[in-house]
Amino acid sequence: MKYRRLGKTGLEVSAIGIGTWQLGNQWGKQFTQGEVNDIFARATALGINLVDTAECYGHHVSESFIGEALKNSRSQWVIATKFGHHRASDLPPEAHWQPEQVLLQLEASLRALQTDYIDLYQFHSGTREQLDNDALWTMLDKQVQAGKVRFLGISIGQPNQLYQVDRATALGVSVIQTIFNAINSKAADAVLPSCQRQDLGVLARVPLASGFLSGKYQPGAQFPADDVRAERKPEVNEQQITQALDILQQVPAGMAPATWACHWCLQHPAISSVIPGIKSLEQLETNAAAGDL
Ligand SMILES: NC(=O)c1ccc[n+]([C@@H]2O[C@H](COP(=O)([O-])OP(=O)(O)OC[C@H]3O[C@@H](n4cnc5c(N)ncnc54)[C@H](OP(=O)(O)O)[C@@H]3O)[C@@H](O)[C@H]2O)c1
Repeated sequence: MKYRRLGKTGLEVSAIGIGTWQLGNQWGKQFTQGEVNDIFARATALGINLVDTAECYGHHVSESFIGEALKNSRSQWVIATKFGHHRASDLPPEAHWQPEQVLLQLEASLRALQTDYIDLYQFHSGTREQLDNDALWTMLDKQVQAGKVRFLGISIGQPNQLYQVDRATALGVSVIQTIFNAINSKAADAVLPSCQRQDLGVLARVPLASGFLSGKYQPGAQFPADDVRAERKPEVNEQQITQALDILQQVPAGMAPATWACHWCLQHPAISSVIPGIKSLEQLETNAAAGDL
């Protein structure tokens, strides 16, 4: 496994990390703690040291699985989680971005992750108005001073949200997370150059285009009702599957398409780590192979 500097944080992170939206049981599979423990044990053996999660991946469910799996090896991992959504609350969505609510989310994330600090705490794909809230960033800075958070990040909702990326340094943010893959490389236009100018770390998410760059889906693919891909417009899935199959024609013989797709992201010098979401040990290993190329 190769390692890269996570921008100005100075952290050395594995070129391939783990995305864990899947552990929120929203991708057509229910996980057990035993499976998750096996995934993290294997990931450790492969040299992976970065995991991305969020408070809303099954309302702290993904975080709880991770907390239990890493409770004896916490210090070896860089844990990135996010704030801004609280699906189990009766409050209107806008309230979840207010400082007092984010502080409650942070405390709940710390409990679920069985830790007293979060390495990277990310603004979870909010709007420009939600970002431009001085009170929020003042509260977050206090959490950094108190040692509950080491570094702040912004996970932009769309890869053209340059405004949010350009604001990063002024807000005390040192890492950006963005969609970046072989069929959606829009981040390379302006977002990644801005990250390079500001020396921000970059996490490349959705590197497999929601699994379609694994090459296993054909047009007409159906997804179970408890899989987030079933909620998307069928024509959008269809178009991405077709585009993916076209692009995958350039994969060298003998290389798994998923390995190629993760490695494709790493060829951009702004990318610190790629965070494919995984559902099995086999997927973990195939993706991790890109970190050795
Ligand atoms: N707004 C945000 O901040 C945001 C949004 C989205 C994602 N994320 C983060 O980014 C991570 C990655 O994005 P993503 O999970 O949406 O998309 P992704 O990584 O492009 O695709 C993940 C899916 O690809 C399939 N897959 C993974 N490895 C494979 C392999 N080696 N061979 C074949 N299939 C494989 C799996 O599903 P199947 O086997 O069922 O096909 C898996 O669920 C998430 O887990 C999450 O941590 C953040």
